[in-house]
Amino acid sequence: VTAEKGGYEHFMLKEIHEQPKAYRDTMRGRINAEGNKVILPELNLTVEQIKNIRNIQIVACGTAYNAGLVGRNLIESLVRIPVENDIASEYRYRSPIVTPETLVIVVSQSGETADTLAALREGQANGAHVLAITNVVGSSIAREANDVLVTLAGPEIAVASTKAYTSQLIVFTLLGLYMAEIRGTQSEAQVAEILAAMQSLPEQVEEVLAQKDDIKKYAEQISKHEHLFFIGRGVDYAVAQEGSLKLKEISYIHSEAYAAGELKHGTLALIQEGVPVIAMATQESVLEKTVSNIKEVKARGADVMAITHQEHVTDLLRSVDQVFVIPKTLPLLTPALSVVTLQLLAYYASLALGHDVDKPRNLAKSVTVE
Ligand code: AGP
Repeated sequence: VTAEKGGYEHFMLKEIHEQPKAYRDTMRGRINAEGNKVILPELNLTVEQIKNIRNIQIVACGTAYNAGLVGRNLIESLVRIPVENDIASEYRYRSPIVTPETLVIVVSQSGETADTLAALREGQANGAHVLAITNVVGSSIAREANDVLVTLAGPEIAVASTKAYTSQLIVFTLLGLYMAEIRGTQSEAQVAEILAAMQSLPEQVEEVLAQKDDIKKYAEQISKHEHLFFIGRGVDYAVAQEGSLKLKEISYIHSEAYAAGELKHGTLALIQEGVPVIAMATQESVLEKTVSNIKEVKARGADVMAITHQEHVTDLLRSVDQVFVIPKTLPLLTPALSVVTLQLLAYYASLALGHDVDKPRNLAKSVTVE
């Protein structure tokens, strides 16, 4: 059995370690030789259609939804098209406002999630072009979508999605850069800078993976708690949501992800002596604000762990109990690294509690009922 797990104790750990390869495979053939242009020959979406897009709706469930939250940040920053995120089981019941100039992006690892498939059909019925980001080429969603961008993560067996999520982030970045070139929202030099940074991600993920012993120790500490919080601002908030889902799913520890600035509107009441708070602090532009939110929870007795870049460690260490460092990358790309720390955290917390990591209770890998 360990043979099919490539020597790892669980599929989840194997899949976490496969991320550098998944990033490379998902980028391969999609960047030109000069490294300043994204090429997506598989797209049916025409240049004309891309120029005319007025809004984008990203629809998905669970972790794929969380990838869409990062996707929104990427697309709005790179292309300046307004993006909405929708949970697939909600989408068609809210009578979404869709026009022929709406691009609907559905995201699904399996390509078989019933609600996501229904959302795809809802979009098409309203005249939208539907682009699917999926890991399974022959899936129902891939077959019915107007366009498919595949993630080349390889088969994902563990119920907790890891490499599919990060590969979805890679596809969103490529798609954003592709549209940015057509719509003239990023210069060739800017595109080249982002592509170069993307190509360093696989090695940088290895650096995060190398911290696993320390992450394991921290996870063992966390596993003794019943409640904890993840906080962050901007794209860090999106990653916090994925970290919280991952932890709940396999460790059964209750957690909530909060936009750091929203804490004092209610949630701060739950912070008391010893409550762990995981603070995502990778975004330079809001770092000071995040630090002041960290101080708010610290003042109420929270035990704070921060995920940040090396250059901010000394600053942060004045107000936190522990820091995990992610390698330096562009602010837009930090989720592809910071989430790996959170995946390992969830994995080791589940392991410490003796749960069935790959097959958590009550959950199925692919949800084919509505
Ligand atoms: C992820 O860890 C979960 N198991 C779950 O949220 C999953 O992402 C969701 O069910 C969507 O699945 P899909 O990507 O196959 O559509």
